[in-house]
Amino acid sequence: MLLTDDSPSLSRAIDPAFRRDIIDGLSRSPKATPPIWFYDQRGSELFEDITGLPEYYPTRTETLLLQRHGGDVGAAVGAGRAVVEFGAGSARKTPHLLRAIAPAAYVPIDISRDFLHASSAALAQAFPDLPVLPLVGDFNGPLHLPDAIAAMPRLGFFPGSTIGNMEPDAAVDLLRAMRRLLGPGAMLLIGMDRIKDRDRLVAAYDDAQGVTAAFNLNLLTRINRELEGDLPIDGFAHRAIWNDEKARIEMHLEAMRPLHFHVAGQCFRMAAGETIHTESSHKYGTRDERLLLRAGGWEPTQEWTDAEGLFALVLAEAG
Ligand code: AVI
Repeated sequence: MLLTDDSPSLSRAIDPAFRRDIIDGLSRSPKATPPIWFYDQRGSELFEDITGLPEYYPTRTETLLLQRHGGDVGAAVGAGRAVVEFGAGSARKTPHLLRAIAPAAYVPIDISRDFLHASSAALAQAFPDLPVLPLVGDFNGPLHLPDAIAAMPRLGFFPGSTIGNMEPDAAVDLLRAMRRLLGPGAMLLIGMDRIKDRDRLVAAYDDAQGVTAAFNLNLLTRINRELEGDLPIDGFAHRAIWNDEKARIEMHLEAMRPLHFHVAGQCFRMAAGETIHTESSHKYGTRDERLLLRAGGWEPTQEWTDAEGLFALVLAEAG
């Protein structure tokens, strides 16, 4: 049962925030842009391709954990909760969770209306008795949950280790905002990518087929298209670097020669070897992940991990 609102589309309008973030990011030193802008239509398709790559272990490992431990999650959270998924996207993993926990409603939240409605329609078809209430919006901003779930206990679902794309202080702020939004008695099921062997991590973000490189470079194509840019795409190379001190993979776009380009009427220069830092993907150890959740107002109660300890699904309750 798909129940949609009719608020204006966020995905079709040209976003002044995109212009602001890119101009600010290219103006600072070192240059850095927020990863949210990867996800135009092409970027979302490339990300889907990344999730199926042999080197990119997070998606298949988390899916396996949901399949294997769905029953344990169901026993821990109980039936009749409203599942609120943050950044639902294609919601590929969601059926495994919904099948396991007998929820009362499902509220997927995503900034891309088209993507959200396509995946919500597919879920509504697969779960005809479940009210599906998609919410178009940015989970980093203020949100209002549908009135239909006002009386239901909630389970937040934040898979994919998307929390890792935030700086730790922003991650704590987001966890606190989720805690406020979901209310007392809420629980949270969150995917966390673990610290592991450097080569394995770098390969996951610099795959042999070059899909992650295309995903990173697509940001430049988007800037050229939407912000009247003339960045020379062939003047940049994709880099994935493990920053051990900060326990994160960093993606950069490195200038292969001195570059001079324009974006939204402004002129920029880059020296050969200079980079634009386009994404960080923080990895967490067991203790770090618990500390992060507690700082965000959640008390971890159970966690499930694969035999190699690559990835963890953590269940927490509102503290
Ligand atoms: C969405 N996010 C969790 C992905 C990650 O692994 O940090 C984005 C990604 N970037 C390159 N590959 C995948």
